[in-house]
Amino acid sequence: MDMDTSKKNHKKVNLTSSNLSEEKLVELHKVLPEAFSENKIDWDKLRAVLGSAIDERIEKFNFSWAGKSNAIKNVLIPSKATLRPVKDESVKFDESENLFIEGDNLEVLKLLQKAYFEQVKMIYIDPPYNTGGDFVYHDDFSAPLSNYLKQTGQKDGNGASLTTNRETSGRYHSDWISMMYPRLKLAWNLLRDDGIIFVSIDDNEAHHLRMIMDEVFGEENFRNAIFVSRVKKNIQETDTVKALNQGVGYILCYAKSDATLVVPPKKYQKKEERWHAFDAPGVRPTMEYELFGQKPPTGRHWMYEKERAMTMIDAGDLRLSPNTSKPQYRLPASEETNLDTNWTDVIESDSTWIKNGGKNPKLIQRMLQVVNDKNALVLDFFAGSGSTAEAVLEQNYADTGSRKFILVQLPEVVDVKSPDYKSGHNTVADIAKDRLKQIEATFKTFKLAESNYPENAFEFDPTKSEEENKKTFESYLAKAKQAKLFDDTKAVDMVYENIVKEGLSLNSKVNETKLGKNDVYVVSDGEKRLLVCLDKKIDDKTVSELTGKNYKGKVFICLDSALDDSAKANLGLNVELKTI
Ligand SMILES: C[S@@+](CC[C@H](N)C(=O)[O-])C[C@H]1O[C@@H](n2cnc3c(N)ncnc32)[C@H](O)[C@@H]1O
Repeated sequence: MDMDTSKKNHKKVNLTSSNLSEEKLVELHKVLPEAFSENKIDWDKLRAVLGSAIDERIEKFNFSWAGKSNAIKNVLIPSKATLRPVKDESVKFDESENLFIEGDNLEVLKLLQKAYFEQVKMIYIDPPYNTGGDFVYHDDFSAPLSNYLKQTGQKDGNGASLTTNRETSGRYHSDWISMMYPRLKLAWNLLRDDGIIFVSIDDNEAHHLRMIMDEVFGEENFRNAIFVSRVKKNIQETDTVKALNQGVGYILCYAKSDATLVVPPKKYQKKEERWHAFDAPGVRPTMEYELFGQKPPTGRHWMYEKERAMTMIDAGDLRLSPNTSKPQYRLPASEETNLDTNWTDVIESDSTWIKNGGKNPKLIQRMLQVVNDKNALVLDFFAGSGSTAEAVLEQNYADTGSRKFILVQLPEVVDVKSPDYKSGHNTVADIAKDRLKQIEATFKTFKLAESNYPENAFEFDPTKSEEENKKTFESYLAKAKQAKLFDDTKAVDMVYENIVKEGLSLNSKVNETKLGKNDVYVVSDGEKRLLVCLDKKIDDKTVSELTGKNYKGKVFICLDSALDDSAKANLGLNVELKTI
């Protein structure tokens, strides 16, 4: 951990997404410096500082599964990958602020950590339910990117067929929990303090999901389990079955903190006309008048004041009950009620775009109404066919909102026999992009891809010896030292890798201009600026421009070999110099 605050005049560019464990250590060091010795945690001191707050009981409540410690570690491993802009699979790339990101959501969430930390107002996800037949992605901590490329059939494999989680697998539930846990943990970081998450699930994993969410979000932040209607299977009277059809599915809802408020929209619920007792608990002298020769029972008063009661009698809305001879009033046939957790008036699924697992956008639109923020940034990292985007668009249209979405979806290969494939799509991500176009959404497409930095391509190979691994790594390093790292067509990709790893928004404006004699990309994200120059040599004139006051404190990124030592020293005094 580097806690040295004295800065050198230049640093190496960030090669990976943020290092969360290092950040946590820095935070801990800030509040508990006495628990550290020589920049490492000293358990004995920590124990001494925290004293009675440490739970020493042997038997305590515990949620554990096979693979838990690895799943926790996985959260902390930074991603080396990048997000590559794909303009020709986007709609209005330069203007749109909606994002469609194709890739494994674990790596993508890691890459979004810095730029979107506490930015997202609402997350909705609809993960695989672990039915035994659905696709469950298998993480490989040691080689996340090549594993991703293999599982999605982009590298020596055929994707889909390898990947369903069968009930026969000994770690059936554990595997699913290990898949969900790190993703939810990273998602938690992205939620604003007043943010909220909704997760669709059914009886296969609902109980485990509650445990994961309790641990990640805190059980005090559990808000609701919402019920939705499932399409009913047809069981014949002659069929023998072991259990009833599952008529409802669930949406678990957790808040980030007490700051999260919801606004239940009014739901129109048809009810028969009813008559209701006219007395209510409480003591209010103005509402204890004589009515039909009666006073309200002790400790109770009439529902309304006398004048209103008289008008109601004239209109036939207040009478003596024919059965009890007590005053009662008419509740009209239909009334509006506040939305509660019973959403069974909406059918959960919608197979317009994908046959399996598509969700009804009306359901997601209702969540947006509950969240009630017209400017919400909405994230869905199991986006499937993109129902969340449709809900965002519909709700924006309904209340002239300007919500934005970020969708993340794996290019899960579509089975050639399925109707989805027949409609001309190779992957679920293709289905989503096509849908976005058809509903006239604008969006920027990014794809999870190998880093542009050669040394990031190195992945430890456990089948080889330490010595062989070291040799391979050194060859990557040697490649990285070459001045020309990439061909010019990849310059924009490199700029975006810097955007991602420096933690600027993917909606940053990127302009190419001349500075001195060099070509420079100027990246603007609100007040934040990033200048990237990928030329082999930075001209003296450019250096002297960059030492001007306009550039004071701005981040300037260039190739290490493009500057000599004195230029680095000069520049380092004015800009925040980072080299590749
Ligand atoms: C149940 S579907 C979501 C359907 C979506 N709600 C809709 O309305 O179309 C779950 C999706 O998550 C995707 N998925 C599974 N593992 C993933 C991962 N590691 N990264 C990104 N997407 C993943 C699957 O490809 C699948 O399309």
